[in-house]
Amino acid sequence: MSNSTTDDSLITTEVQTDSNDGRAAPAAGTAVAARDLDVFYGDEQAIDDVTMEIPEKRVTALIGPSGCGKSTFLRCINRMNDMIEICRVEGDVEFGGKNVYDDDVDPVALRRKIGMVFQKPNPFPKSIRDNVAYGLKIQDFDGDVDARVEESLKGAALWDEVKDQLDSSGLELSGGQQQRLCIARAIAPDPEVILMDEPTSALDPVAASKIEDLIDDLAEEYTVIIVTHNMQQAARISDRTAVFLTGGELVEYDDTAKIFEDPEEQRVEDYITGKFG
Ligand SMILES: Nc1ncnc2c1ncn2[C@@H]1O[C@H](COP(=O)(O)OP(=O)(O)O)[C@@H](O)[C@H]1O
Ligand SMILES: [Mg+2]
Repeated sequence: MSNSTTDDSLITTEVQTDSNDGRAAPAAGTAVAARDLDVFYGDEQAIDDVTMEIPEKRVTALIGPSGCGKSTFLRCINRMNDMIEICRVEGDVEFGGKNVYDDDVDPVALRRKIGMVFQKPNPFPKSIRDNVAYGLKIQDFDGDVDARVEESLKGAALWDEVKDQLDSSGLELSGGQQQRLCIARAIAPDPEVILMDEPTSALDPVAASKIEDLIDDLAEEYTVIIVTHNMQQAARISDRTAVFLTGGELVEYDDTAKIFEDPEEQRVEDYITGKFG
């Protein structure tokens, strides 16, 4: 793993204010690696022995039919599965040279480094400014909050639309704007990785297309890992594509063009040509 500077911040709740710390590693290193990962809900296995290395500052898409474990895999990366009582994880997820499941990893600090955006935009019933500043307040950010709010809204391609209404409620925005607000909220604490679980599937095509453009820009600065059941979307926006099939098996993982144009596995070809799923 290339990103050794993140180790300390994972195991403490210390504030990291220098926005460039931990992001000095060259592009195309590994951001996140799963090793022999199994996930169970009670007796049911949802992820079956998955090993994969996810490159930094690229867009990696996770595709596959409903129920094949895409969301489960995504939630393993920042330990959101911790919230699900019956969920059990075996194997490693490495981030910053460390297994995020080690006992000394603080999941709250981890989630600042690995932010998440969900299918349904979920702004808090707070002002636009307070939505974006939310993560900063939790971490006792001692920098310029307004400047960080502006920077994050610009990073989420929302600033021009909301700069004159930062005090109005985030819930008054359109669905697409709300989702960009959630992206601004995710990037405000200066993460390294952004996880997105079907971030456009609740949006109209115009709003979805804005988010797709944004994802492309985000990958210049962040590692983006996106679940989508929209194969055209995966083909359009991702550099790498991982195909999961029923039972939580990672069947093929390669450059996106290879997956869509010349997959190795017949099952992958059948899936992407619509024979099942
Ligand atoms: N909270 C949960 N409790 C029990 N089983 C779950 C839970 N979440 C997901 N599962 C099961 O795990 C499997 C994978 O689900 P999921 O990761 O949501 O798949 P996908 O995102 O690919 O649709 C499914 O069989 C699903 O029913
Ligand atoms: Mg899902």
